[in-house]
Amino acid sequence: GVRIGSAADGRGLSLDPAYSSLLGTEFNAMTTENAMKWRNLEPLPGVYAWPGADQLVEFAERHGQEVYGHTLVWHSDMPKWVSPEWPAERIRTELRDHVTEVVSRYRGRVWAWDVVNEVLDEDGSLRETLWLRKLGPGYIADAFRWAHAADPGARLFINDYGIEGRTRKADALLALVRDLRRDGVPVDGVGFQSHLAWDEPPRELTRNLRRFADVGVSVAITELDVRVELPVTPEKLKRQAAVYRQVLKSCLAVPGCVSFTVWGFTDSRSWIPGYHRGYGAACLFDADLTPKPAYLALVDEL
Ligand code: XIL
Repeated sequence: GVRIGSAADGRGLSLDPAYSSLLGTEFNAMTTENAMKWRNLEPLPGVYAWPGADQLVEFAERHGQEVYGHTLVWHSDMPKWVSPEWPAERIRTELRDHVTEVVSRYRGRVWAWDVVNEVLDEDGSLRETLWLRKLGPGYIADAFRWAHAADPGARLFINDYGIEGRTRKADALLALVRDLRRDGVPVDGVGFQSHLAWDEPPRELTRNLRRFADVGVSVAITELDVRVELPVTPEKLKRQAAVYRQVLKSCLAVPGCVSFTVWGFTDSRSWIPGYHRGYGAACLFDADLTPKPAYLALVDEL
């Protein structure tokens, strides 16, 4: 019953038949890697550019995959026209309209949404963002309520990184989720991004997932990749495979874990080399789409 997904890239889909074929056959769920980020969806005020996201959703539907929507409210990848100079009421209206517009468009076609992404700082306090500065902490509850009103059937997630182990950030997120649910806010799940490294397996992942599930929310591995310090060696790929396997095992061990998603499946389209200097080879397939030890480890576990 656990969905096995990958983030997907529109360019890969249109340019590379081998990429599309693997994406369509190896996974039963898909997350839109960039296509549903605000900057890409609404490049000009009120002017939505749906084709990129539509193309991915239609691909998923043709291949019997469920779609995980990423992401409605984030501090990053905002269009420039949203101005920090606007008064709070204007910011609030724009945010509400954006959430409502996007969730309504894909109503019934997206099984889960990352409603808010990365709202916490490493120390567990709320991240200083435009939303927090202008709207106060209540923007989080509001976003969930707006999303729920637009599609009552969609499962609504709060997503973050650095919460896989029992970190301060994870403790704070657990407290936040508890508070939100106590207040009747429709938070259904917590997404663990899981951008990990080959030599640092997360500690106590299973126990950590379990304590979130124990407060009544689903949990999901939402953006797993395991970066390797270059150059790649067979030994490093073996350790990478062990980390992938460990994360899948933890998800399968926790009944509330409803989905397991990798952040892209091929090294040729991974975000890692561009964002983590000296690292790469983070995915299940190499750049030639040959399965790596990590892929074999997951198949073995399933
Ligand atoms: C990344 C994408 O993979 C890149 O293609 C893009 O250039 C930047 O964003 N956490 C998130 C994702 O929630 O949206 C990020 O995705 C990776 C980190």
